[in-house]
Amino acid sequence: MLEISDLAAAYSGIRALKGVSLNVAQGEMVALIGPNGAGKSTLLNTISGLVRKSAGSIRFEGRDLAGMSAYQISRIGLLQVPEGRQILGDLSVQENLQLGTTALHHRATTHTLERIHDLFPILAERRDQRAGSLSGGQQQMLAIGRALMGAPRLLLLDEPSLGLSPLMAHQVLTALRRLNAEGLTILLVEQNARQALKSTHRAYLIEQGLVVKEGRSDELSQDSGVIAHYLGQAAGAASH
Ligand SMILES: Nc1ncnc2c1ncn2[C@@H]1O[C@H](COP(=O)(O)OP(=O)(O)OP(=O)(O)O)[C@@H](O)[C@H]1O
Ligand SMILES: [Mg+2]
Repeated sequence: MLEISDLAAAYSGIRALKGVSLNVAQGEMVALIGPNGAGKSTLLNTISGLVRKSAGSIRFEGRDLAGMSAYQISRIGLLQVPEGRQILGDLSVQENLQLGTTALHHRATTHTLERIHDLFPILAERRDQRAGSLSGGQQQMLAIGRALMGAPRLLLLDEPSLGLSPLMAHQVLTALRRLNAEGLTILLVEQNARQALKSTHRAYLIEQGLVVKEGRSDELSQDSGVIAHYLGQAAGAASH
């Protein structure tokens, strides 16, 4: 579904991506893990057209995304839940969800409001409240709901559990697993490598703008280098 080859991107000459190749097949849930500053957000933002690539190619369902702007990319169903959620705090929960439909253009809805409310009941309960009054975890659910309103074919998420309590982070990841089980293809950036590897089929480890490891998530979680650098000593105990 998504085929990225030798992708490079830079900020004022500083190279943030140095030739990244990565694939996501339809139906997969794939994690992108790596330390601060590795280039994870840059990669997502380059896919979604917010950052311009300097080399390489991005193909989505066979179509080269070169030259497409962010809004055009959103309209073919490649939708991003941005780092930090970026909900509009002064609008109601319901209005934030409705904003997501701008990505539909002439495509059919895949996730109705009812379906999103079933996934995140809090968004129904709080529909008329200011979005800014929600807790961080609820705002993250809203940001995911907003993307679902735009009928994603591939959903990109940038650290959806960042800053959330362990319970909230667990709820958000559980919802993502459910969405994937229902057929949605997901590329998930996650700094919590343990959670990410537990929740996904495959993963890429990115460091300093390069993919340094890739494989099945269950295999990567057994990799000594990944354990030493990303899973810590509790890895064995936590992998039950
Ligand atoms: N707008 C920008 N202008 C200049 N440099 C940037 C910009 N955004 C990111 N960078 C730099 O590009 C590199 C990759 O950053 P990026 O945000 O993609 O990393 P990340 O893996 O998402 O990190 P984090 O885990 O902190 O979110 C870093 O060196 C960062 O300082
Ligand atoms: Mg980031």
